[in-house]
Amino acid sequence: MKLEAKALQTRRIVLGVTGGIAAYKSAILVRRLKDYGFDVRVVMSHGAQAFITPLTFQALSGYPVHTELLDAEAESGMGHIELARWADLLLIAPASCDSIAKCANGLADDLLSTIYLASKAPVWVAPAMNQQMWAAKSTQRNLTTLVEDGVHIVMPEAGEQACGDVGLGRLAEPEQIAAAVNDFFAQAERDISEKFGLLAGKNVVITAGPTRELIDPVRYISNHSTGKMGFAIAEACYAAGAKVTLISGPVSLNTPNGVQRIQIQTAQEMLEASLQLVEACDVFIATAAVADYRVAHVAEHKIKKAGDELTVSLIKNPDIVATIAQQQQRPFMVGFAAETQNIEEYAKAKLKAKKLDMIACNDVSRSDIGFASDENAMTVFFAEQYHLPQRILEKAAKKDIAMQLVDSIAKALAGS
Ligand code: PMT
Repeated sequence: MKLEAKALQTRRIVLGVTGGIAAYKSAILVRRLKDYGFDVRVVMSHGAQAFITPLTFQALSGYPVHTELLDAEAESGMGHIELARWADLLLIAPASCDSIAKCANGLADDLLSTIYLASKAPVWVAPAMNQQMWAAKSTQRNLTTLVEDGVHIVMPEAGEQACGDVGLGRLAEPEQIAAAVNDFFAQAERDISEKFGLLAGKNVVITAGPTRELIDPVRYISNHSTGKMGFAIAEACYAAGAKVTLISGPVSLNTPNGVQRIQIQTAQEMLEASLQLVEACDVFIATAAVADYRVAHVAEHKIKKAGDELTVSLIKNPDIVATIAQQQQRPFMVGFAAETQNIEEYAKAKLKAKKLDMIACNDVSRSDIGFASDENAMTVFFAEQYHLPQRILEKAAKKDIAMQLVDSIAKALAGS
């Protein structure tokens, strides 16, 4: 029961609702599944209809509810075989003791058990029943069979039950069931990206955000970088199947899913972290706004206010991207250029001077793009040996710009 690559775009779920007081929770489950963007069709057993009406699910899912195995009208539209083929995933919640037994033993005497047998889609089952029924040897035997058959179980919770008993058997919360299903699709998509994505199997290191150069224990020199561009690129590289390490200066952003983050403060710390990772790195992307200078002598204690003027002497910081580009086993090097004038000219000069493979330049004098904005616009240049024309990335969300940059990197890598 493997998820097929072609099915990933649509994410269609057949939700089987079987008899039990927990059936009312499935109404909330439909809402949560739809929050994730899933297309949901509901199949109800006769038992379920004693607890909640098909009309409720019809209103929530936006589709007629399927209840009968032998329904001439349904068979000419979407009958059990069509539903079984349509589903990217079959979710049974709540799964009664009886429905679990049917699935485990291959019975096909109602619509849901027939879909279970006729579908190739992965199956998730969220049981709900009285604690004694849950503990019964036959139930546990049937569950073991389902797990052996590749069915995923969302375990029930312990607590007070509708019948007054206390114990294991309460349906897991709808939010938890929906999240488990969503995680399953996300992981499946990730598995496919790792095999077929634009950066499948590549180790990518990204620098992001500003650096902070200390003046004394309470003051520092920094810049307006928020890390948004670099973090968006980290996300896009991960989605393209890469293993991503993000070396980040101080920013207030959450680490993107699946990305490893190394937190630094100064340019020197960023360089040290980069050098440690360079050997295993295939692509190095320098989006960080690194301070070009640092304070020559950081004061040990807070500098006290004294005369009208204060002179702080600065010394040059190492150029991180240029240093990495000089390593013997160098990765594919992507630099950024933040300019306020002669943008393309300066960017091309940096591409050469820093011995980069590719550079993306942006105009940081504009307030609608560049620093801190959610959008950016860039021009990309490649080193001569790639014979690739410049690429203009029109103003768009940084997430979209990031995906286009990944595409540019993949094109250059494919030609190198
Ligand atoms: O973080 P956001 O708010 O989203 O803003 C995004 C951004 C404007 C910071 C980003 O799009 C950007 O332009 N990053 C590069 C900023 C920069 O420092 O550019 P630069 O032209 O000064 O440097 C050229 C290249 O050398 C850059 O790749 C830079 O990371 C690298 N560099 C610079 C100095 C240094 N000491 N070491 C470096 O590695």
